[in-house]
Amino acid sequence: MVAGVVVKDSHLEREFRMSQKNFDQVKDIAYDLTGIKLTDLKKNMIYSRLARRIRQRGLSSFDEYCELLEQPGNDEVTDFVNAITTNLTSFFRENHHFDFLVKTVFPQLLRKNSGSQRIRVWSAGCSTGEEPYSIAICLRERMPVTKWDIKVLATDLDTNVVSHGKRGVYSGDRIESLDESRCKKWFLRDPKSEEVRVKPALQELITFKPLNLLNEWPMRGPFDVIFCRNVVIYFDKDTQKTLFNRYADMLAPGGYLFIGHSENLHKVSNRFKSLGKTVYQKID
Ligand SMILES: C[S@@+](CC[C@H](N)C(=O)[O-])C[C@H]1O[C@@H](n2cnc3c(N)ncnc32)[C@H](O)[C@@H]1O
Repeated sequence: MVAGVVVKDSHLEREFRMSQKNFDQVKDIAYDLTGIKLTDLKKNMIYSRLARRIRQRGLSSFDEYCELLEQPGNDEVTDFVNAITTNLTSFFRENHHFDFLVKTVFPQLLRKNSGSQRIRVWSAGCSTGEEPYSIAICLRERMPVTKWDIKVLATDLDTNVVSHGKRGVYSGDRIESLDESRCKKWFLRDPKSEEVRVKPALQELITFKPLNLLNEWPMRGPFDVIFCRNVVIYFDKDTQKTLFNRYADMLAPGGYLFIGHSENLHKVSNRFKSLGKTVYQKID
């Protein structure tokens, strides 16, 4: 150590003390409520997100906060869950999925569903809505949405992101990577702010609903396509196995499943065949 340099322990300067016991309690509650596994690597992130909750509730310690969370029927659960979720997303994230949707899945559905003229897509873990809006743009651009019965269900456990998605208002920089014609066609610019709003033509196709994937699902299905991308990375293998089995039950024969770039179904489910690049098809 260089003489005279004082090494500061950031933990000593923290507003609240979060003991290992507090963190373990938070970890167990998070897992039971959401399936999300918080590792010790997430300690700093959890500290800052929950310190905000402690302040907002006018409490003075993590002990008090954990006590509140342990009380049956307490009114902190929703805000706690909203605080611990990670909602990173973007329009046309992992763009190859949208190419596949347009070039392979849509033509197939046009043939397969020509009798019912009905298509259902589910964005499970939709975060703030960029994913279901990207799907809706593809549907509007390539499918007979005015003639067929075509709908997108967008769900997330975090009630704040569901409200954001429903509102459909984003800062302008969120659509910078889209080409200009798409921006003009599907978004309205607010001249007084830096914000953009998705057009009603997209919103009409989507129903946003809060839904915890671990709980019972109120919809009957079947879905033709399910997007569940970058959600199960936070789940353990057993939770993933149960979830993908339920997705297979919910999909129509030959239905498609899109998962995140760092996820795979190896040793998780044998009810799907891989079509490459994290796209799967249900085995009938
Ligand atoms: C990283 S975002 C992914 C958003 C989008 N699918 C994408 O790939 O861009 C993960 C989302 O999964 C949601 N999530 C986590 N656990 C969930 C659960 N048990 N039920 C429903 N949604 C959950 C989070 O709230 C978060 O919005």
